[in-house]
Amino acid sequence: MTDKHSTRPVRIAALALAIGALASAGPACAQSAVSEGQKLAFDRGKGNCLTCHVIKGGDLPGTIGPELKDIKSKYPDRNDLVAIISDETKRNPQTVMPPFGRNRILTEPEINAVVDFLQTL
Ligand code: HEC
Repeated sequence: MTDKHSTRPVRIAALALAIGALASAGPACAQSAVSEGQKLAFDRGKGNCLTCHVIKGGDLPGTIGPELKDIKSKYPDRNDLVAIISDETKRNPQTVMPPFGRNRILTEPEINAVVDFLQTL
């Protein structure tokens, strides 16, 4: 009965709590960028992405562009997404997608927030 390791489970539980606290501090911050990005993407006067793309959670989408889903598996490198949103004409000179960065429709932080949101799709 006098097991000298008897305090171990308590220590592990305390460690798990500490890790949990650390982990939730990060996503809380990232979460606000995601919802900011979603707002920008859905805002008809800003990203206006819904005019051309079906996006989960968005109303009355258009279908000129492909549905935006499984984005993280298709574009694991976020720089590719930043490039597409900043100026898709570099990748495809024929595209109808507006160059949001080049035309200053969205600022760099706004584009980054939209990318954070896209990576949750
Ligand atoms: C006027 C229509 C239009 C608007 C508005 C638009 N896009 Fe696009 N988008 C397209 C088209 C068309 C394509 C297909 C690729 C091409 O044309 O080069 C595309 C492609 C993409 C892709 C690549 C998708 C894939 O599966 O490869 C992403 C990501 C994307 N758009 C994000 C956005 C975001 C984010 C917004 C809003 C900030 C937006 N688009 C606004 C038309 C649009």
